[in-house]
Amino acid sequence: MRPNSRLSAAIIAALVALPATHTEAEELRGKALVETNCARCHAVGSNDTSTHPDAPPFRTLSKRYPIEDLEEALAEGISTGHPDMPEFVASPDQIDAIIAYIRSVQDR
Ligand code: HEC
Repeated sequence: MRPNSRLSAAIIAALVALPATHTEAEELRGKALVETNCARCHAVGSNDTSTHPDAPPFRTLSKRYPIEDLEEALAEGISTGHPDMPEFVASPDQIDAIIAYIRSVQDR
């Protein structure tokens, strides 16, 4: 008798189904976060223009360095090299969402 086997099967099914929807939801959360915190200066979409003349559009960031490098910068609070920007310290799950979103808008 394994009373939990039905539950385990349900959990496994959920985990298998997760990746696609997970990424999409993550990207949407990231989009909302950058629209709130970054879009004031940066272009955050796939063909908009940064309102701040010095702020690089997010879709070009991967040309400067690997997107993964942003993770550390966000965790520490992007402030260095970011003179006009209010310090923004993201929580780990906000960071994952922001990275997922920024990755999704890169020019390839
Ligand atoms: C008040 C305006 C402003 C806001 C808000 C802002 N930025 Fe910036 N950001 C800038 C400017 C200006 C630069 C260019 C700084 C420079 O080159 O010295 C920049 C540069 C960057 C860079 C490139 C840094 C580098 O070393 O190449 C990244 C990454 C970045 N911003 C991420 C973000 C993220 C993520 C947010 C939202 C959480 C954000 N910024 C919000 C103004 C802003």
